[in-house]
Amino acid sequence: MKILITGATGKLGTKVVETLLKSVPASQLAVSVRNPEKAEGLRALGVDVRQGDFDRPETLDTAFAEIDKILIISTDGDNETRIRQHTNAVEAAARAKVGFIAYTSVGNASKNKLFLAPVHRATEEAILKTGIPYSFIRNNWYLENEIAAFQGVLAGAPWVTSAGAGKVGWALRQDYAEAAAAVMTGDGHENTMYELSGKPMTQEELVDILGTVLGKEIPVQQVDDDIYADIMKGVGVPEPIIPILVAIQVSIREGSLEIVSNDFEKLLGRPITPINKALSQIVNEISQL
Ligand SMILES: NC(=O)c1ccc[n+]([C@@H]2O[C@H](COP(=O)([O-])OP(=O)(O)OC[C@H]3O[C@@H](n4cnc5c(N)ncnc54)[C@H](OP(=O)(O)O)[C@@H]3O)[C@@H](O)[C@H]2O)c1
Repeated sequence: MKILITGATGKLGTKVVETLLKSVPASQLAVSVRNPEKAEGLRALGVDVRQGDFDRPETLDTAFAEIDKILIISTDGDNETRIRQHTNAVEAAARAKVGFIAYTSVGNASKNKLFLAPVHRATEEAILKTGIPYSFIRNNWYLENEIAAFQGVLAGAPWVTSAGAGKVGWALRQDYAEAAAAVMTGDGHENTMYELSGKPMTQEELVDILGTVLGKEIPVQQVDDDIYADIMKGVGVPEPIIPILVAIQVSIREGSLEIVSNDFEKLLGRPITPINKALSQIVNEISQL
């Protein structure tokens, strides 16, 4: 049995591989990465490091050869790029006749109105088209996505949002990684869909817990999207990123990330890291930067 992880030098992929190495012999693990030099540490541990670029499908035929189970970690970039890259990866996995494809998708991918959702819908559909047994690991929202806002709060800024009362199922990247690792090593995950979501909470609820962790009152400023964009510009967010941040606020406000599910606990075999503990961990990490 050989398991391959793509994006293994990315933030989530690194944690997935670290988790797998605790229960799977390195000889049964392979990674497909754009830059093998970044995976020298894994090679030294006995992991089979392969070069694979989703933009160069010919590299994927070698990278995905003789693999039983593959985890395709979604790439970054604009929607069009990612749909092309993911389709290349799925088609290469089918050519290589892998026996199982897991994919890190987005919450409620088939219906989600989030601007990123078309990527995940298209990829899930491409996987279904192959007829290969699959698992869609639908990740809600990394708590780490909010690190810039946490840094702002630590520097004395208020919490600024235009997300209104929209709720988000935040959880630590580590928990998402461990759940993905469980799908790759466990039995009975063929043709499954997991909605991985922390308990949905509003911005105020999150900030309230952050305030308790930091021992201070954090003002929450609910503004409209235009003011949110102006404030982001004012704190130095690069111009091209601003529409993305606004779109995320809109999607949250419209409920795109308000998903209730206990799939996370089921996969982990434990509750996810409590939000106060998760926040305190991130705050400690930020303080050490
Ligand atoms: N649910 C959420 O809150 C959330 C938040 C952010 C992102 N995401 C999604 O989850 C994915 C993983 O998150 P992350 O934090 O680990 O992001 P990340 O560190 O940016 O990881 C992206 C991975 O995609 C790889 N990649 C990019 N272009 C590629 C290509 N042409 N061929 C092969 N691999 C390519 C990157 O390779 P290198 O290592 O060579 O750079 C990297 O390993 C993201 O890419 C995104 O789709 C979800």
